[in-house]
Amino acid sequence: MRAVILIGGMGTRLRPFTLATPKPLLPVLNRPFLEYQFQVLSRHGVREVVLCTSYRAETFRRVFGNGRRLGLRISYARERIPLGTGGAIKNAESLLRGTTLVLNGDVLNAFDPGAFLKFHRARRAEISIALTRVKDPTQYGLVLTDEKGMVRRFLEKPSWDEVVTNAINAGAYLFEPSVFAHIPPGKPYSVERGLFPERLAAGARIAGYVAPGYWIDIGSVEAYLQVHLDLLQGRAPFKPGPRARALKNADDARVTTGAGTKIAPFARFSGSVSLGASVRIGRGAQLSDCVVLDGAFIGDGARLERCVVGPGARVGTHTVLGPGTALAGGSSVGDYSQL
Ligand code: GTP
Repeated sequence: MRAVILIGGMGTRLRPFTLATPKPLLPVLNRPFLEYQFQVLSRHGVREVVLCTSYRAETFRRVFGNGRRLGLRISYARERIPLGTGGAIKNAESLLRGTTLVLNGDVLNAFDPGAFLKFHRARRAEISIALTRVKDPTQYGLVLTDEKGMVRRFLEKPSWDEVVTNAINAGAYLFEPSVFAHIPPGKPYSVERGLFPERLAAGARIAGYVAPGYWIDIGSVEAYLQVHLDLLQGRAPFKPGPRARALKNADDARVTTGAGTKIAPFARFSGSVSLGASVRIGRGAQLSDCVVLDGAFIGDGARLERCVVGPGARVGTHTVLGPGTALAGGSSVGDYSQL
């Protein structure tokens, strides 16, 4: 089975970090985020991968090349204009064969593609959609299924009084080759808002598979921070980057650092903290549940809580960064500031 991964989005909700780096390449514990999803594919024997690129397309080829380093065979389908999730898949059609696994590139899903395929075949579905259950479904696309696992209705970002299920579209699909004929070529088109409801209305067999295991969509700054906390606390079964080192003597905190990071005396950590490579942490700084990306500088006595500091950013002496702060790469916050 081949996999196609959608990685062409602009990641507007994850700005400022996605201004320089596309979302699937943002580092997570010193590894590009997409490599975690590659781990799932390799683990289950899926080695042929097509990447659908648009926004900052050239950077993906530079990082992953033909995939040999990762034990994969990677090819690329580049869009001249962003074609949306459906148009991107159509654009890759000539590179695909047989039943195809489609994945969103901003999701980490510890599911088993083999079990998903078995479910799909048993229901003789044209399309199967992996589902996951969430506490607050109002930010997502809801998928209502019957007792046999066949999709009966879609609901995009419902209000609380419309919530009829907590099963949401998990951003992983199986497509039979016959599906491609229903996607218009060369123009923007969405699978979620176009293809799925249209095929359902036309009477096509669409199945919904509740995938067990860890799932996260890193589309927002909060979720990008959360995936770090989950990996550090062992809630997600993935290997961090080879140069991520657990810090000894970090009180009760879980801290990883990249190469060349220096921590001054009396710095204190709590919760889970991810430090990139060549980071400087000042004397007496206090960091709790946060992410500091490569080359950032944290001044003496600064206090950081539930925030993300971009690459090369500078946080002044005794500055306080509160929950939800997203400091852009290369920016600077003066001494004694409070954000
Ligand atoms: P936001 O701008 O923050 O909504 O993020 P996004 O641009 O990534 O959009 P969204 O989260 O809805 O996209 C879901 C997945 O589809 C992501 O993995 C995107 O990279 C991908 N995607 C979205 N639009 C396109 C597109 O036009 N082309 C390709 N190739 N992929 C896309």
